[in-house]
Amino acid sequence: MSASFLQAPASFDPYAIRTEFPVLGRTVNGNALTYLDSAASAQKPACVIDGMAEQMRTSYANVHRGLHTMANETTESFEGARKTVAKFLNAADSDEIIFTSGTTEAINLVASGIGADLAPGDEIILSEMEHHSNIVPWHFLRTRKGVVLKWVGVLDDGQLDMQAYKDAFGPKTRFVALTHMSNVTGTITDAKALVDVAHGHDVPILLDGSQAAVHMPVDVQALGVDFYAVTGHKLYGPTGIGALYGKADRLKTMRPYQGGGEMIESVSKDNIIYGVPPHRFEAGTPPILEAIGLGMALNWMMGLDRIALAEHESALAARTTEGLTQYNDVRIIGEAPGKGAVVSFDVRGMHAHDLAQLMDRYGVAVRAGNHCAEPLMHRFEASSTCRASFAAYNTDEDVDRFLEAFAKAREFLS
Ligand code: ALA
Repeated sequence: MSASFLQAPASFDPYAIRTEFPVLGRTVNGNALTYLDSAASAQKPACVIDGMAEQMRTSYANVHRGLHTMANETTESFEGARKTVAKFLNAADSDEIIFTSGTTEAINLVASGIGADLAPGDEIILSEMEHHSNIVPWHFLRTRKGVVLKWVGVLDDGQLDMQAYKDAFGPKTRFVALTHMSNVTGTITDAKALVDVAHGHDVPILLDGSQAAVHMPVDVQALGVDFYAVTGHKLYGPTGIGALYGKADRLKTMRPYQGGGEMIESVSKDNIIYGVPPHRFEAGTPPILEAIGLGMALNWMMGLDRIALAEHESALAARTTEGLTQYNDVRIIGEAPGKGAVVSFDVRGMHAHDLAQLMDRYGVAVRAGNHCAEPLMHRFEASSTCRASFAAYNTDEDVDRFLEAFAKAREFLS
């Protein structure tokens, strides 16, 4: 992704995209809304809002269990959404897609599944730039099974220390779980290289694609990755839905996560035979409408020029960074080459929460806090940062309004 130009490329029109997002027309505190918090959760296009409502208005029932027309129709829509997720990630088969409530559940599912076979002293490789959702499930295995967590460091510009990653492998390494894009620094990791190194040691690897899948096309087959997790609400879809891609061979041998209806072949008083993937990992009534809504959101995304979109978002991040770096008390956290469209920063002597709350007075929505990434905050000796994050619907004017609001907030706090 190039950050070398400041205008939206001709092949991508964010102004046309904006008209598809009804909420962007509202005001906040008397100002036009400037929404720069899409890394936390993206707004929804009308096709998702209306499409989910239409589904509820016209055909809704539980899935997989019915013999009546609406049950069959809803099952078709639900399984159609699974096929859409498979297409979005270029999975070889839609049976490799498990619906989860989000990335957090996807990673917990894998940790629980593979954790069952781990022994004390076995090692799992993580990095300092993981979100808590890719840390805490592995801590469970540390405290419950005596597994050892090996941490790969982050360089000053936010890049993963590749040499440290290579050095982290040893005879007891059993699994790798790393982010594909940091939600704080925007660093995009070299996913293919990470996978190749892990496989060179015969170790399976999970990539957390919560942020990356929003900003770039992902091809799980080309990456060769074993598990890839995404979350719907950052992908312009509903909350409460996400997906885990798992290679067929891995899923076949993995233990189920939760027990209940729909995940079994048969149950008797003294025996259970589990169903086949993906159903083995989807106990109970799934988030049916949310899965269908996710399918709609992904179809919407696949209708965009994803490369031009990435360039557009990158240009907005570059414009923001350029505006902020004119202040010598501002520190940008994360300047890795080719980084994704988030800009985290702190300002000497000012609390990030105060800045965010003051900017909200001007209708500018940014996130402030530790971004559920405390090890990374410690790495950069920051208690919290402000973060502006960009999506398809953001424009140069959003960046300008952000910079104006920031200037006023900074002046107020000086
Ligand atoms: N993980 C989300 C974020 O980075 C909530 O804001």
